Amino acid sequence: MGGVFVTGTDTGVGKTLVTAAIVHALRRDGIDAVGMKPVATGVDRDALLKSMDAEIIARHSGMDRSEYELVNPVFLAVEAAPYMASIMLRQEIDMERVFSAYRRLRERHEFLVVEGIGGVMVPIRKGYYVVDLIKDMGLPALIVARARLGTINHTLLTIDACRRRGVEIVGVVMNMVDHGNPVEANAGSMIQELSGVPVIGSIPLLANPVDAIDSISRYVRYDLLLT
Ligand SMILES: Nc1ncnc2c1ncn2[C@@H]1O[C@H](COP(=O)(O)OP(=O)(O)O)[C@@H](O)[C@H]1O
Ligand SMILES: [Mg+2]
Repeated sequence: MGGVFVTGTDTGVGKTLVTAAIVHALRRDGIDAVGMKPVATGVDRDALLKSMDAEIIARHSGMDRSEYELVNPVFLAVEAAPYMASIMLRQEIDMERVFSAYRRLRERHEFLVVEGIGGVMVPIRKGYYVVDLIKDMGLPALIVARARLGTINHTLLTIDACRRRGVEIVGVVMNMVDHGNPVEANAGSMIQELSGVPVIGSIPLLANPVDAIDSISRYVRYDLLLT
């Protein structure tokens, strides 16, 4: 049935939350959806899944341990862009490992939600960026943007980078929106007007963001990802 690549305007904008919530909602609708974090960096937690993002995604995908190595095929234990981490650790990033895990998950499941790392111009290898990974996976991009001063600029830059690489964009999700602030509340419609990319979700700033995983259908038109 396909999949989607969840990217963002930055790190910390809500990609993991949106990825887990979409997987959760699709599974509740009876679709065998799973998530993936192809490349992760960060503190080594000394757990079966070293990446916290991968653990959250695996939990909501209902995966068993036999699939853990496919959820996050590459982990680098330095909190930095992958290319930076690979230089610091003198560790090559094996993209074949990433694509082989990707192909296996796509063969086994109906729908795959891939979480990117940081934003689209995060370097993975020299001259190879997250946007190139999206293109090579052949998935449409969903852009998560944090509604805050600066978001129009960050989102339009992200859309432009995707278009230059020929990456299709299914939509933008505005996250952490303070509806009491007219600038934040209206940023999504201005992005849609200027770029022509539909805003398919708006998630408020939540006291308990984990609640959004259960109630994502209230905030995001995830059904549009299936067409
Ligand atoms: N709508 C929201 N309201 C409040 N907190 C949020 C919201 N969305 C995400 N968060 C929190 O912000 C942090 C960053 O979100 P995360 O999904 O990990 O971002 P990313 O994957 O882009 O780095 C997390 O602690 C998450 O729980
Ligand atoms: Mg994340």
